[in-house]
Amino acid sequence: MGVGDLTRLAAATLMGKAVAVEIVHQSTDLVDIDADVLGVGVFAASGDDSTLVLADDAAAVAEASGLDLVAELRAAGFDGTLGTVAHLATRGATRAPMIVAVGLGDRATFDDSRRRRAAAALARAATRAPHLATGLHTLGDVADVAWSAQAVVEGLVLGIYRFTPYRSEAETIALATTTLCGGGAATETGIAVGQVTARASCTTRDLVNTPPQDKRPPKLADDLAAAVADHELAVRVLDEDALAEGGYGGILGVGQGSSASPRLVEIAYRPPDARRHVALVGKGITFDSGGLSLKPSASMETMKSDMAGAATAFAAVVAAAELELDVAVTAVLALAENLPSGTATRVSDVLRFRNKTTAEVINTDAEGRLVLADALVHASELAPDAIVDIATLTGAAVAALGDRIGVVIANDDELADAMIGAGARAGEPLWRLPLAKTEYGERVEGTIADLKNAGGRAAGTIFAALFLERFVADGIDWAHLDIAGTAWTDEAYGEHPKGATGIPARTLIEWLRQ
Ligand code: BES
Ligand code: MN
Ligand code: ZN
Repeated sequence: MGVGDLTRLAAATLMGKAVAVEIVHQSTDLVDIDADVLGVGVFAASGDDSTLVLADDAAAVAEASGLDLVAELRAAGFDGTLGTVAHLATRGATRAPMIVAVGLGDRATFDDSRRRRAAAALARAATRAPHLATGLHTLGDVADVAWSAQAVVEGLVLGIYRFTPYRSEAETIALATTTLCGGGAATETGIAVGQVTARASCTTRDLVNTPPQDKRPPKLADDLAAAVADHELAVRVLDEDALAEGGYGGILGVGQGSSASPRLVEIAYRPPDARRHVALVGKGITFDSGGLSLKPSASMETMKSDMAGAATAFAAVVAAAELELDVAVTAVLALAENLPSGTATRVSDVLRFRNKTTAEVINTDAEGRLVLADALVHASELAPDAIVDIATLTGAAVAALGDRIGVVIANDDELADAMIGAGARAGEPLWRLPLAKTEYGERVEGTIADLKNAGGRAAGTIFAALFLERFVADGIDWAHLDIAGTAWTDEAYGEHPKGATGIPARTLIEWLRQ
């Protein structure tokens, strides 16, 4: 089987394979469960109190089994730091042969983002036996059991995610079932929602981790359409002829250096009696070499991730359908491959976008804004209440906030706050930068065309947003998420293995649910 076959297989199972473990609810006490591993939470020793603090389920297990968990854990060098784990063999003291203690950090700062991370650590420590049972969603302060159960499901699934289609030998794990004990019917609600949100993150990760040779725009468009064939979603794909016909000169200009032509994919979810209509516009550069303004080799290493915005918008519209949200959602994905060649766009070429605006290409590596310009015009024509674009747009966003905080820039304070709130709840933090029209608005003006696509190093993230703003129709609330830093991680952290993070799929879903 060649690599091509493997990927077709990956695409065929794209929508279903993310949730590797079955997650179920039982109202039985944790100690009474017939499981291989009991996952219990332990708070760190803090301040003057040098003793570990067993969370409720750990205390109950200690009580019922007669085990001195605090003493055993301390002897094992465990200090309750968030995300650390200790394995204890119970030698017949409990029905389950093994306890895995997971550190929850300080009692005072424990929240649902930390709960999600603890769940990821627990799952990673429990992959060698088939059945894990835990009450992690009931520990500490729980305001909303459904939400804390959702966070635990997300942590469990995202924590053990591995991208394996390109391995010659598939890595397998024994863990097949996780039982969440306690919390009642709300636990079941949280599990159901968490399965969808976790799958959205995993779908995003799969698409971003896929090598660029196997997601060139025509194939990616086909694969995405095929993946949602059984969903209540309407898919429309504009190929190069349709793009030319429609005047999408930005998408065509970026894609013209590649032998694989660009695509615009529109995926619409239309529930009856929708409260509002939002458009999610995704940057989908399937590989960003920089074009003729070629990137240095090291900067190119992660550029298969330059379609993360499109992957996220795709996963979010699918999740909206799966959760049957009462919001109409249209994902608009601008797919192109940015390569240098004899047919590539030159530096100084002028492109004409769908709304007739023109721009000089000062730098062919500032291609994201060129494809997004057409996609934003396309989205504006649908007259949604709000547009959110998602894009790995600028290295300056990484310089400003690093790889664990994303940038939001918006033309509306309420929408900016809503995105920041949703990001905080999802454990995918966002920080706002200003649109700064008054201060920097003129910088995007062109010399021989209306606009220019690049203008020096200063405030590069804001410059890009000011360029995009020219393509959002008046009166539409708009937020721009620059995920150049957060879409990818070079090292594992929290619930994320190294590689694609799936950020900000769960932020978008959480925002849509509000
Ligand atoms: N895809 C890159 C931005 C990027 C950088 C994403 C690092 C992820 C990690 C984008 O197309 C780009 O090349 N931007 C240029 C713009 C510049 C030429 C004005 C940049 O930020 O350097
Ligand atoms: Mn670029
Ligand atoms: Zn790019």
